[in-house]
Amino acid sequence: MKKLSLLMCSCLISAVGFSQQTSTGIAIIPEPVKITTHTGKYLLPKTITIQSGTKEDINPVLDLLKKRFSTATGKIIRVKKLAPTAAIKLIIAKKVDTVIGKEGYYLSVKPKGITITANETAGLYYGVQTLLQLLPKEIEGKAVAKNVKWTVPVVNITDYPRFEWRGLMFDVARHFFTKNEVMSYIDNMARYKLNLLHLHLTDDEGWRIEIKSLPKLTTVGAYNVKREGEFGNFIPPTADEPRNYGGFYTQDDIRELVKYAQDRFVNIMPEIDVPGHSLAAVVSYPQLSATVGADKYVVRSGERIMDWSLPGHPALVDNTLNPAGEYTYQFLDKVIGEVAQLFPFAYIHMGGDECAKNFWEQSAEVKALMAKENLKTMEEVQSYFEKRLEKIVESKGKKFMGWDEILEGGIGPNAALMSWRGIKGGIEATQQNHDVVMSPTTFTYLDYMQSDRVMEPHVYATLRLSKTYEFEPVPEGAVAKYIKGGQANLWTEQVYNIRQAEYMTWPRGFALAESVWSPKEKKNFNTFFAKVEKHFERFNEAGIKYAPSVYDPIFTVTRTADKKLNVELTTEVQGLDIYYSFDNSYPDNYYPKYTSTLTVPIDATQLRVITYRGNKPIGRMVTMPIEELNKRAK
Ligand code: ACM
Repeated sequence: MKKLSLLMCSCLISAVGFSQQTSTGIAIIPEPVKITTHTGKYLLPKTITIQSGTKEDINPVLDLLKKRFSTATGKIIRVKKLAPTAAIKLIIAKKVDTVIGKEGYYLSVKPKGITITANETAGLYYGVQTLLQLLPKEIEGKAVAKNVKWTVPVVNITDYPRFEWRGLMFDVARHFFTKNEVMSYIDNMARYKLNLLHLHLTDDEGWRIEIKSLPKLTTVGAYNVKREGEFGNFIPPTADEPRNYGGFYTQDDIRELVKYAQDRFVNIMPEIDVPGHSLAAVVSYPQLSATVGADKYVVRSGERIMDWSLPGHPALVDNTLNPAGEYTYQFLDKVIGEVAQLFPFAYIHMGGDECAKNFWEQSAEVKALMAKENLKTMEEVQSYFEKRLEKIVESKGKKFMGWDEILEGGIGPNAALMSWRGIKGGIEATQQNHDVVMSPTTFTYLDYMQSDRVMEPHVYATLRLSKTYEFEPVPEGAVAKYIKGGQANLWTEQVYNIRQAEYMTWPRGFALAESVWSPKEKKNFNTFFAKVEKHFERFNEAGIKYAPSVYDPIFTVTRTADKKLNVELTTEVQGLDIYYSFDNSYPDNYYPKYTSTLTVPIDATQLRVITYRGNKPIGRMVTMPIEELNKRAK
């Protein structure tokens, strides 16, 4: 056996892959710890035998293999406990291998077959995800692909994650996404070895989880008036408009989702966002509010709710829970009790973000609480609330997590923190010995625009792929051992359907995956982007939407001393040509090519641009109004 493998090794030309990706055609995301590539390929046989071994229940791994192979290749799949000549051998190591840990794997492709070895089933699952990425892109297809040579390059991979927490947050409150849509989201994250789905289940626009002891949360709180367009400034609905837009997950749905995710090695962390962002709960049970008149409120559809221009962003209606009311804590005890039963994951996220304090300031009850508890500021009032909440969460056998506002006024003794307003809160919490997940707006907010504002649904900020790729979960100053990992957040105010959720998540989700899985020293944007393009092709096969925004040019405008408007065009990725017009017609590669700063002709009304790679259009046609450029130059 030993001799044979030695012989095989000596006749293969070996190239130790560092940034191995495109020259070999191999494009694995996230980048594995180590790849050694060789010449040669393994051709899958007509009937694929999988050796499953006898030790562990590896059904989720077999299910993934069977589903993808039978759908796309049409080959017959046989599973045997022991099969020395099997095409694919799945092996749970007899002795724990300390290099690869709980989630790592070794993948070996030889001219005669494939072996994946791991300590645990999760590792085998990730090994299979890597194997699928080594196969031709047609493996992603939804029907049997014709005329494909099903080969895998000869390769040796050692791989394991950098962080245990590799998360995506999906806001199913602002807009509701069905159980099946959430399942498809889980499938996609599992492809990229992301293992934590944070479900933002409650907000001002909807309460999405059945709580049996509080039925109005879903009979009332799960529905609003449908509105489309630019969320945030919608006309307030009238009393006679139907409130039938939305939905919720029954407790059976949740159990199904949890199981579905577990089979893909994804944990689901529920978030119940309190004491702010709680209008749907307040509308369902107005006793939760400290404000007289809360019983007249309605679940929000996207009308204005906070004044973001003022310090402390005061709320226009009181969307907070009353921190001084005992009913609030009884309510939360019931909610958390049921939530804790449904989700096996150790943490419950209790929100804590963006809690407006202007209604609390008016409340006699809150003032009395402050006097009684010697609370000096509204931040201390929130801290009082959070600490009581932490005790309730712990009484249900769970750990408490909150957004970084829970630091203000004093963080609870065992609280874990999710750092979103940059990295400062996260760094500070680690210095106070608290566990932290990094998910800063600056690198990981997937609701932000990916390209120029004229090309995307409007949100207040832009986060390009290249910037997401710079995400480093352990910033300078942080106590590394408290950083559990990183997460990207998809808020859905402007996301109305699952196709747009996919568009917002990919390709930035690829960048996240490399930040939380791959060795830091192997990250390189150009190498990464070459792989991303291969994964675009795979997504085309799989029918998953992604944003091509990275091909759109970046506009930089300046006003010259003599009042002329100058426009500089650049691209986020290398090797693209930009063609343009000022005459309102659609440019192609026979139009003027951008080579240096443009001066806008005095009567021009729009600048149209498109990017090409060679003679193929690759970017979208971008129409930039000159009026918009003028505004930017001011
Ligand atoms: C947040 O983005 N409000 C946590």
